[in-house]
Amino acid sequence: MNIADLLILLLPLYFAIPIQSSSSPPHFLKSFTQNSGNETINVAPQEYFEVTRPLPTDAITPACSVNVLDYNFGYTYGSPPVTVDYIPPPVTCNWSLAVLEFRAECKGEQYDRIAGVWIDGVELLRTSTAQPTEDGIFWTVRKDVTRYASIIRQDNHTLSVMLENIVNDEFTGVYHVNVSFLFYSGKDVRVPLSVVSGDSETHRLNRKLISVKTHGNEDKIELDRVLNLLYPYDKPADLIIPISGAIDEGFWFRIQNETDVQRKNVQISQKTYKAVLELYVSFHGDDEFWYMNPSDSYIEANHLATGRAHGAYREVLVTIDGILVGAVIPFPVIFTGGINPLFWEPVVSIGAFDLPSYDIDLTPFLGLLSDNKSHSIGLQVADGISFWLVDANLHLWLDHSNVKAETLKYKVPSMEIERQNQFKRLDGEFELEGERESEAKGLVTSSFGKLKIEYTDKMKFKSKLKFQDQGTRKRLNQRVNRNSRITITDENGELIQSLQVKIKYPLNINIKTGPGSDPDTSIMNTTVVQGRSEAFYDVNDSRVLNHSQNCNGSMVIKGNAVLSGTADNHQIYDYKDGFGCYSRNVDVVGGHVVGDVASAVCA
Ligand SMILES: *[C@@H]1O[C@H](CO)[C@@H](O)[C@H](O)[C@H]1NC(C)=O
Ligand SMILES: *[C@@H]1O[C@H](CO)[C@@H](O)[C@H](O)[C@H]1NC(C)=O
Ligand SMILES: *[C@@H]1O[C@H](CO)[C@@H](O)[C@H](O)[C@H]1NC(C)=O
Ligand SMILES: *[C@@H]1O[C@H](CO)[C@@H](O)[C@H](O)[C@H]1NC(C)=O
Ligand SMILES: *[C@@H]1O[C@H](CO)[C@@H](O)[C@H](O)[C@H]1NC(C)=O
Ligand SMILES: *[C@@H]1O[C@H](CO)[C@@H](O)[C@H](O)[C@H]1NC(C)=O
Ligand SMILES: *[C@@H]1O[C@H](CO)[C@@H](O)[C@H](O)[C@H]1NC(C)=O
Ligand SMILES: *[C@@H]1O[C@H](CO)[C@@H](O)[C@H](O)[C@H]1NC(C)=O
Ligand SMILES: *[C@@H]1O[C@H](CO)[C@@H](O)[C@H](O)[C@H]1NC(C)=O
Ligand SMILES: *[C@@H]1O[C@H](CO)[C@@H](O)[C@H](O)[C@H]1NC(C)=O
Repeated sequence: MNIADLLILLLPLYFAIPIQSSSSPPHFLKSFTQNSGNETINVAPQEYFEVTRPLPTDAITPACSVNVLDYNFGYTYGSPPVTVDYIPPPVTCNWSLAVLEFRAECKGEQYDRIAGVWIDGVELLRTSTAQPTEDGIFWTVRKDVTRYASIIRQDNHTLSVMLENIVNDEFTGVYHVNVSFLFYSGKDVRVPLSVVSGDSETHRLNRKLISVKTHGNEDKIELDRVLNLLYPYDKPADLIIPISGAIDEGFWFRIQNETDVQRKNVQISQKTYKAVLELYVSFHGDDEFWYMNPSDSYIEANHLATGRAHGAYREVLVTIDGILVGAVIPFPVIFTGGINPLFWEPVVSIGAFDLPSYDIDLTPFLGLLSDNKSHSIGLQVADGISFWLVDANLHLWLDHSNVKAETLKYKVPSMEIERQNQFKRLDGEFELEGERESEAKGLVTSSFGKLKIEYTDKMKFKSKLKFQDQGTRKRLNQRVNRNSRITITDENGELIQSLQVKIKYPLNINIKTGPGSDPDTSIMNTTVVQGRSEAFYDVNDSRVLNHSQNCNGSMVIKGNAVLSGTADNHQIYDYKDGFGCYSRNVDVVGGHVVGDVASAVCA
């Protein structure tokens, strides 16, 4: 088989099957630029961004920094990731906070792409690219990677970036990417959120503004609170074991279907007193819009030529020796070609540049793992179809000497799903409702004493997908709610730690398709209303994020190319922690930022 044959076989995995009004919403290519109405003007490249909060380090000079990679991702499709020697910070560099900076620029026509950054198979960042314009675009992603301290401190590692791109006569966009690491000294770091750009003195006065010093006990505690990124990485792990695949196809596992279980054997140190599995997840191909996939029976009965089916419930499952120990319904990140690409310029969708990772505390399960034997960690996608990119990092915290770990009790059932599908020709209703209650209890005896770790988790999932008007109108209403609690008590029953995590991912999507004025074209009116709400409550601390986006717009499409259109995107970002608040409201109308107001005042 030659390369060309391979490509024809493989392309449908990446590119959407051309749109059919009666199939699920596809992935579009924004093939015109809103500001390119005038060819004589050479407009400067535009900066794209994801709405997020500043890092506590944003306004300070790093103690040292290292540029690790500078690469042009042209035709990289089917190639292994670009791999270079990782350069650790010099030993003379005193740092306690590390930030990964991913800078990219691109010009021309190109699909959005998924990308990952690894150090020796440990994933540090999952990101996606924006669709470029003729005038060019650029963006920067900054991520606190202090939790990976044990690996970024060392030399003798390699850094890999996977970004599969296709460049030909039609798709001209080459992604230029730089990856660097910025290392900050703890004494320079100011309390998070005190560094809001444009922050006025009056704003500052309303807030606890603490310049952290390393002297004195009280300040030390503050420094710890600033640097500790709270549970579960209050202290970076001593060791990180990648639960990932071979380098050739990128370290991520390509999960093709619901029976595809990807496994990795690990043998962990008997000194381990705490273990957290951090999952990285993205969904593509027929499952890029898994939350809008109707039942298989609907696709079959209507003889539709699409693979986007198998219902709208998906969950990433984690097993130890085949026993289910954790599950995650991922936040539905919409890439920049999704639903209506005009929504995502120049502000991208929630999580598109920094896809969330998901933590599963395996400490109560240490009894199953720490017998100095090899155990199989499995990753799979419940109800999944092609394809998912999933891998994980196993963070381990080690004591000076051997630890005794027992798993006293666990119950992690599979989610019970109630499904109701009814349809008549192209119209129908697909309802899903699922719930799961899990618990686990473990005992860990280490130099910290004999600690009892109890974990409970309640997860609720609801989805209603409606197709009307001969399938030209689609409406989704999805709710994911999760409530977990971890308590740690000592031998005397005294509470050492109590943490509660509350997560809500509401998503509403409306798509209405009608005939366009020209043959072969259609008009699509779309709305997306989405929220990411995550709250962590500790005994003394809390961290609450509410991020929402509200988008509406209309576009003229031909196949999966967008010919023209207009769109609005309104985002509200609210964050509050023990130090203060940060909020930012961004309004984008027709591709122009008409409002962008940040404030550090607590309401
Ligand atoms: C195109 O450029 C010309 C000359 O600079 C200007 O007069 C005209 O308004 C521009 N048109 C658009 C659509 O921006
Ligand atoms: C780094 O910190 C150590 C101890 O805090 C100190 O002795 C040393 O001088 C510092 N080095 C630099 C380059 O600041
Ligand atoms: C990458 O770094 C090089 C050298 O510092 C610079 O010339 C180039 O503009 C950078 N590219 C991006 C996308 O930041
Ligand atoms: C670097 O890695 C190689 C191969 O894994 C190993 O043989 C060598 O000892 C390592 N060197 C250091 C300094 O860790
Ligand atoms: C599921 O995917 C695996 C891995 O690609 C493949 O070997 C297997 O045949 C698939 N099973 C089904 C039922 O399609
Ligand atoms: C753990 O297993 C390794 C080999 O896998 C062995 O060398 C080591 O002695 C074992 N440790 C204990 C405490 O049994
Ligand atoms: C909460 O704060 C109190 C008083 O400052 C302290 O004694 C206690 O250890 C803290 N608890 C936790 C879990 O951090
Ligand atoms: C799309 O919305 C516009 C108004 O914003 C309306 O005129 C048009 O009929 C709508 N088209 C469809 C297919 O719903
Ligand atoms: C976050 O949103 C929820 C509803 O989604 C609301 O009940 C809560 O008050 C909000 N919290 C903040 C801090 O805005
Ligand atoms: C979005 O909805 C608002 C309110 O209904 C409307 O004013 C605006 O014109 C719509 N925007 C687009 C691009 O359709």
